[in-house]
Amino acid sequence: MSDNKKRLAVFCSGTGTNFKALFHAIIERELPAEIVLCLSNRLQCGAVDFAREYGIETMLLSEKQFATQGDFARAMLDALRERRIDMILLAGYLRKVPDEVIAAYPDKIVNIHPSLLPQFGGHGMYGMRVHEAVIASGENRSGATVHFVNEEYDKGRIIMQNHVPVLAGDTPETLAKRVLRCEHRLYPDALEKLLAGES
Ligand code: GRF
Repeated sequence: MSDNKKRLAVFCSGTGTNFKALFHAIIERELPAEIVLCLSNRLQCGAVDFAREYGIETMLLSEKQFATQGDFARAMLDALRERRIDMILLAGYLRKVPDEVIAAYPDKIVNIHPSLLPQFGGHGMYGMRVHEAVIASGENRSGATVHFVNEEYDKGRIIMQNHVPVLAGDTPETLAKRVLRCEHRLYPDALEKLLAGES
């Protein structure tokens, strides 16, 4: 029954490969959830294109559209409440979620980060910078982390992690590809766990 499905919003800014992996996993695994909104701060991005192709509502919401941070936060909250969103999944969303929204959805906002947190996380640690730092550190493994979002970057409670090796001769780009493949399995697994109430 669609009435029992959790209503999900996915926040994206980029290529949206995690969004795609989540979307397909929900269908293939028959998860009790439905992505009803793709919210992005960029109109031109792979995630928004994908959402449109699959008939998922898209919404452009950026701080630039508002006079104050407070107005931006209220608009985001209104959009989420109007659509009765139960859970928010950040998938390559390169903005900070306003504190008001985090407070309104405790343990209902989830993010994926391309390292084994708490290592290589925090403000400014995103994209290729993460993989550059991992290689520079000499670590022999990296991975991905799905975690709850709180007011501090990448500090919320960890839900699930999976690791990949860092191989001799890896560049940030080759490591990024390996980690991304790992993310595409991990995020659906974590969503499944959350939907089962196991976190
Ligand atoms: C992923 O590496 C994710 O961990 C990070 O941003 C990237 C998004 O990639 N938060 P995509 O847009 O899902 O392809």
